[in-house]
Amino acid sequence: MCGIAGFVGAGDSLRQAVASLKRLEYRGYDSAGVAYSTGDELRIARCPGKVADLEALIAALPAASGPAIAHTRWATHGRPSEANAHPHGDCTGQLAVVHNGIIENHQAIRQTLLSAGHRIQSETDTEVISHLIEDELVGRRGASGLVEAVRAATQRLHGSFAVAVLWSGAPDVIVAARRDSPLIVGLGDAGAFVASDVPALVGWADRLSALQDGDVALVRGRSVTIWDADGKEREASMMPLTMSREAAEKQGFAHFMLKEIHEQPRAVKETCRGRIGSDGEVALEGLGDAVLELLRSGNVHFVACGTAYHAALIGKRLWDQALRRHADCTVSSEFRYDRPLIDDRTLVVLVSQSGETADTVAAARYARQLGARTLAVVNCMGTSLERETDAALITRAGPEIGVASTKAYSAQVAAMGLLAGQAGWADAGQALSALPDAIEKVLDNEAAIKAIASDLATSNCFFFLGRGHDAAVAAEAALKLKEISYIHAEAYPAGEMKHGPLALVEPGVAVVGLCTRPSTHDKIASNLMEVRARDGRVVTVVSDGLPIPEAATDVIVVPSVSEYMSPIVTMVAMQLLAYYVALARGCSIDQPRNLAKSVTVE
Ligand code: M6R
Repeated sequence: MCGIAGFVGAGDSLRQAVASLKRLEYRGYDSAGVAYSTGDELRIARCPGKVADLEALIAALPAASGPAIAHTRWATHGRPSEANAHPHGDCTGQLAVVHNGIIENHQAIRQTLLSAGHRIQSETDTEVISHLIEDELVGRRGASGLVEAVRAATQRLHGSFAVAVLWSGAPDVIVAARRDSPLIVGLGDAGAFVASDVPALVGWADRLSALQDGDVALVRGRSVTIWDADGKEREASMMPLTMSREAAEKQGFAHFMLKEIHEQPRAVKETCRGRIGSDGEVALEGLGDAVLELLRSGNVHFVACGTAYHAALIGKRLWDQALRRHADCTVSSEFRYDRPLIDDRTLVVLVSQSGETADTVAAARYARQLGARTLAVVNCMGTSLERETDAALITRAGPEIGVASTKAYSAQVAAMGLLAGQAGWADAGQALSALPDAIEKVLDNEAAIKAIASDLATSNCFFFLGRGHDAAVAAEAALKLKEISYIHAEAYPAGEMKHGPLALVEPGVAVVGLCTRPSTHDKIASNLMEVRARDGRVVTVVSDGLPIPEAATDVIVVPSVSEYMSPIVTMVAMQLLAYYVALARGCSIDQPRNLAKSVTVE
């Protein structure tokens, strides 16, 4: 989604803001822009396209000593164009606003503003914010006047926003505000930063603070002042910035996705560190008695989106199959608009890498309204999801920059194993401890997987088939391929093919059979023969020790581990397959078209 990066301090703030913005490219966007103060006046440069296009646009401009705010826009209201790119100004040309989120009542505000004589130049929902602030600034002066105007204007907005504002009437400050969209402020030797995500600060700031809903922040070169939703000044409570520069950079890998695939042994090891005793018993700290009690004997309902949902499906399977207790699993966007069977004996487990996915955060609120206890399984710390839930289990995958989730998935599935272990799954410790070595073995097979991927890259239709837990893995494998290679890919429980999808199988169709489950191995082997008989190309992923299905034209052997944790091992192979197919097709792997890393709108 959109990205915000602002800087005020020593040096060329124009280029600093754009350099910070470049770190947010992974979030997905289609235009970029920056507003900066020369000391005398406010200027805006913006364009459709990439941050590199913006860099070219500002290349010949002199350094800017005043503050700057930069933005990458992921189009929602109005197509990607120069006019719709942020920052947006007001009628006076003295104000500039960047915004993440969606203003739900923008049409009504737009009508009011137009009737009052405002000239609105873009199709965006954002531009109404600049004109509202313009009105609120009448009669106000200086930095405190801007703070008051931003507060008053944002109070009229429905929906979600993170905004950063420049005004020539307060030429040495940035004012920022948020509701339901993440925004952080940071401080470093050279000055102060505003950003929608931490990578924008790495290497330049050494401490940061996450704004909370309703906060308005005044950011100066050396200080940050924050007022809460009631207008009371509150302490900025700065935390050390711990993300390393290596984490924010590719370190020799061609893409962040490939780097993150290779980081999975560590992601799983870190997620389990200190949570499994020498006796193999899982002991999770900090969840609180009520959550622990519900894990042991309450109802459990998993809720998540995308890859996190696929990890949650493994959680449900652990409950159903390993613990022999019923559990539900629902995508967040369905959960919050349905009437789930939930009460005070229910633990709703919300799984999210970013902790900022709008549907998942809203689902957490809804679950609480229904009387449930809530537990976040989240990778980023200090997020909205953590604040909206009763307890959090932090996965420790480290920062995930590639839009396609890889190491976060492995850490989430490991977390599912930890939760099941805490709930009584006796094999959890042993199953989890075997994973880092098993993942390494899959990574050792990278060249062979790459060769298979290069052969498959011309196929325009993929099926991923599995049974039992492999059916859940098939869904994640299909998602991974489609999001980065743009190939149509579907996942099916293998036995379902003959009930319809088999009609699509013809030469050129690739079918990947996931065969890691001993109890149904013969069954899936037969299902794959049915595909082969229709001239489909069959790639199999087989657990070491199981027979190679007769239908296989290509085979990827993966280490045999506990069937409940094998989704991690299988998915590492499937991530590599998707990566190398996308590479062979020349796709934009870290920033796939139309997608964003953190989906902060509904
Ligand atoms: O940050 P979250 O885990 O809540 O994100 C959920 C999905 O948006 C995310 O997993 C998405 O499906 C990924 N692009 C998949 O690779």
